[in-house]
Amino acid sequence: MHTGHGYGFGKTILFGEHFVVHGLPGIVSALQQTLTVQVKKSDTEKHATADNSIRFNSTKIRKFTTKMALPRITAITNLLKINTPLHITFGGTLKIANHGMGASAANLVALARALNAMFKLNLTNEQINNAAYEGEKIDHGTPSGIDNTAATYGGTFLFERNTITPIHLKQPLEIVLAESGKSTSTKTVINSVKKLKEEKPKYVEEIFKNYKDLVKNAYTALQNFDIKVVGSLMDKNHELLKQLTVSCKELDKMVLIAKNSGALGAKLTGTGRGGLIVALTPGKDLQNKVSHALEQKGFETLKTTIQ
Ligand code: MEV
Repeated sequence: MHTGHGYGFGKTILFGEHFVVHGLPGIVSALQQTLTVQVKKSDTEKHATADNSIRFNSTKIRKFTTKMALPRITAITNLLKINTPLHITFGGTLKIANHGMGASAANLVALARALNAMFKLNLTNEQINNAAYEGEKIDHGTPSGIDNTAATYGGTFLFERNTITPIHLKQPLEIVLAESGKSTSTKTVINSVKKLKEEKPKYVEEIFKNYKDLVKNAYTALQNFDIKVVGSLMDKNHELLKQLTVSCKELDKMVLIAKNSGALGAKLTGTGRGGLIVALTPGKDLQNKVSHALEQKGFETLKTTIQ
């Protein structure tokens, strides 16, 4: 009863960031890397935190202070009706990026699971996921829920309006994630896409229409493990994200480096206008080559697999 541990998966969005906010399907893969939370009763009358989590060096993100973490902690403790002052330790193997790793969702899921364990709440995964979504709204305004769902359940799946359809990849697939060193706010970028949709409805509808066809094909290609097609659809998805104005020159440059060094596909992943790209690099040799090319140009990478 005196302590509780929990974890949440990091994620990379393979198809459909921003489109999912508007109710279109997205495809996401959880990473093996997780964020963890340990909770125990605080020695004082207030919540206190310690941050042992790791970051991409390029992000320059400071350690979480209790003040920074408090709004999200209280969103969850209020929902779960927990009044005990807590000492919360953040940790795990997921490298936190400026954006794109799903770290905020992974943290929230880990916290909900840790509280579930400490207070023996018997929460289902669905309740854990819902609790994390409440926390996500604090920072992200009107998130789609794709990040917290990946952080809760793991694996690769199609996400559409909170319904998930698992995709079973024939074998694990190597990817490279690379960090731009540039930060932005998810809420700001989500709002800017909404504004674009209000101001240029026809323009955005056309992009949405193209995306709907693309994601259908991507779902089939992933199921058939037709990875060349998956790669070329990732490239096309990046183009559509550019049209939605959520890329930036650093991300475009990184995509080009990844493609020129042999990646089957590459696109921004997550919020955009900074944060990360994901490159599809089946096999260790190609993965090392693409990662090396990006590192040579000063972009920090993470080599991992999706499944
Ligand atoms: C952020 O990882 C993904 C976005 O589509 C926002 C969301 O789905 O909530 C940009």
